Amino acid sequence: MRTKIIGTGSCLPQTVVTNDDLSKIMDTSDEWISSRTGIKERRLAKEETTATMSIEASRRAMENANVSAQEIDLIIVATVTSDHITPSTSCEIQAAIGADRAVAFDINAACSGFLFALSIADAYLKLGTFKTALILGAETLSRIMDWSDRSTCVLFGDGAGAAIVRADSAGLLAYDQGSAGARGMVLSCLNRRNNNPLVKNPTDIQYVHMDGQEVYKFAVTTVPVSIKKALDEAGVNIEDIDYFALHQANIRIIQAVAKRLKVPEDKFPISLDHCGNISAASVPILLDEMNRNGLLKPGMKIVLAGFGGGLTWGSAVIEW
Ligand code: ACO
Repeated sequence: MRTKIIGTGSCLPQTVVTNDDLSKIMDTSDEWISSRTGIKERRLAKEETTATMSIEASRRAMENANVSAQEIDLIIVATVTSDHITPSTSCEIQAAIGADRAVAFDINAACSGFLFALSIADAYLKLGTFKTALILGAETLSRIMDWSDRSTCVLFGDGAGAAIVRADSAGLLAYDQGSAGARGMVLSCLNRRNNNPLVKNPTDIQYVHMDGQEVYKFAVTTVPVSIKKALDEAGVNIEDIDYFALHQANIRIIQAVAKRLKVPEDKFPISLDHCGNISAASVPILLDEMNRNGLLKPGMKIVLAGFGGGLTWGSAVIEW
């Protein structure tokens, strides 16, 4: 039994914010952002929320997979920006789409979240507990940015990506995952005030803080090793991979990973130019764009890889 992705969907907010738009509200430029990151514009949520974008992405994935709400056994949302602590985004999706039979919960593995959700769904499907799962990465990162920190806020965007997975004879061949909690504070968001009356000096709310150079070093050293481990586990040669769908953090990270793997850059599709970095949503949104643009053909072999906050990372080898 393998876990097969049988449909994808995504949803981005309406509002496009270009680098030039940002340069009107902070001391930055299109030249600085484009040359260091590859990002040209991103979508930022005004009316939309993590839940509303997730619900729309889910509906599109269900339509793409031709799966009804009643067929969904499991809903997992990977997010660091759920609208509420409770109810979870996954429970909000369940209610909105009418997936009454589903078990629904959220997970937090930051930019690796979609890969972790996929591996959890795979474990349930392999056990035979469930047959069909809806998995998402969804973020409203604009809510938790420090908009006075130009080195960080220009990198991120908002959106949601979804996939329907089902037990099948082909699909997920192998995966590799890891976490390095000891190095976690290089990318942090301590965004909660303690409301305990026994605590005398509650800390102020803090937004996303990143040591960009440390994150860069982590990504370019960890991701190639993780991808190679997943390929070894799958028994697949790197030359046989058609596409590498990586977390869309930064074009320089993707170029460095391609170089270390000795794989041509044109095997690394890009969405960061128009989406920015959407943490857990990056990989499923990219996958949906590839799917809808006709890039993915049955039998193709694809690598998915996520990396980021935690620190965490995950790679998967998939037969489409
Ligand atoms: N516009 C203009 N100037 C800026 C901006 C900006 N938006 N941001 C920073 N600068 C300035 C700084 O003030 C500094 O100026 P100074 O030399 O006069 O002091 C100069 O640019 C260099 O700043 P650095 O922070 O050192 O910039 P760096 O070259 O490291 O680039 C970047 C920053 C792009 C974030 C880089 O560290 C990087 O690529 N990191 C990878 C991490 C990443 O992409 N993380 C994404 C999120 S994490 C994840 O998803 C895994």
